[in-house]
Amino acid sequence: MTAEIIDITTDREKALERACAVLADGFPVAIPTETVYGLAADATNPAAITRIYETKGRPRFNPLICHMSDLAMAERYAVFDPVSKKLAETFWPGPLTLILPLRPESGIHSLATAGLDTVGIRLPKGFAADLIRAYGKPLAAPSANTSGGVSPTSARHVADDLGDKLKLVIDGGAAPVGVESTILRVESGALRLLRPGGVAGEEIETATGLTVIRPEGPAAIIEAPGMLASHYAPGASVRLNADHVEPGEVLIRLGAVPVKGIEQAAAIFDLSPSGDLAEAAANLFDYLKRADATGATRIAVTHIPGHGLGEAINDRLARAAAPRK
Ligand code: TXA
Ligand code: MG
Repeated sequence: MTAEIIDITTDREKALERACAVLADGFPVAIPTETVYGLAADATNPAAITRIYETKGRPRFNPLICHMSDLAMAERYAVFDPVSKKLAETFWPGPLTLILPLRPESGIHSLATAGLDTVGIRLPKGFAADLIRAYGKPLAAPSANTSGGVSPTSARHVADDLGDKLKLVIDGGAAPVGVESTILRVESGALRLLRPGGVAGEEIETATGLTVIRPEGPAAIIEAPGMLASHYAPGASVRLNADHVEPGEVLIRLGAVPVKGIEQAAAIFDLSPSGDLAEAAANLFDYLKRADATGATRIAVTHIPGHGLGEAINDRLARAAAPRK
């Protein structure tokens, strides 16, 4: 099978129609979202959800985020406490996923939630929201990559990785945020951060007046298995907080920071010449893939500040650098 690729800048209506047809047949479709490309399937259809897990080679204990077109739709499937509601109103549509009690019998299949009594919900922007509206049912969608690999931020990334396993890839251009959604769970009025992502922790604290509680250590719990230690891994090994380059290494840096031995770098990728963390997040996965494509076996990455989107960038880099299983 070779995936059909439809570009929404020229064929948006056709993309919506074809995607709805493939979804209704029970197959996944790769779609653009503002964070990363998703592998979307009907969240109420067990055969379709099974195909997501098979296509990605994803462990089935790792639940999927269910994407909705609007808050009213989300409320049909999950129960919102007041803080979650406020977060939804502030950040949706956008890169925030809320873990909420699932409404039993609402129709979301237990394969999507891996049997949990909660469901991860988010409202994406743009084409993805239009597609869900047109299809009329929630779409379960993990990132559209082989499990454990780097998430795709372009249709090309998806086609290179999964093109021979998919019927349809929708091309919506480069994903503007570039890292996955922030995953948050409200527990007795406190905010637990399960995965840093496209909405910065500081923004969430400002909007709610509550403190965001960070996970205790890397991969302390497999509650949000984006927390599996080795994840987002390129083929090359990754060395963090580099202040020098060793022979043959590719360098990924943030602006023109001083780096010893830079002339030895096999290639240099600058996440953001001006040091802008949002721009760096948008480029991160593409540059990891490009660094890999040079054939180098090691990637050195300079220090990235931990504020704003830097928290999500550092989280993904730590996983990319974690020992492989
Ligand atoms: O930006 C994103 O979130 C992208 C786009 C496609 O929307 N999706 C994404 O999905 O990153 P995925 O499958 O790669 O990551 C979903 C994460 C996993 O770590 C999973 O464990 C967690 O969400 N998750 C889903 N449902 C959960 C639940 N009920 N409780 C705890 N964690 C949950
Ligand atoms: Mg993923």
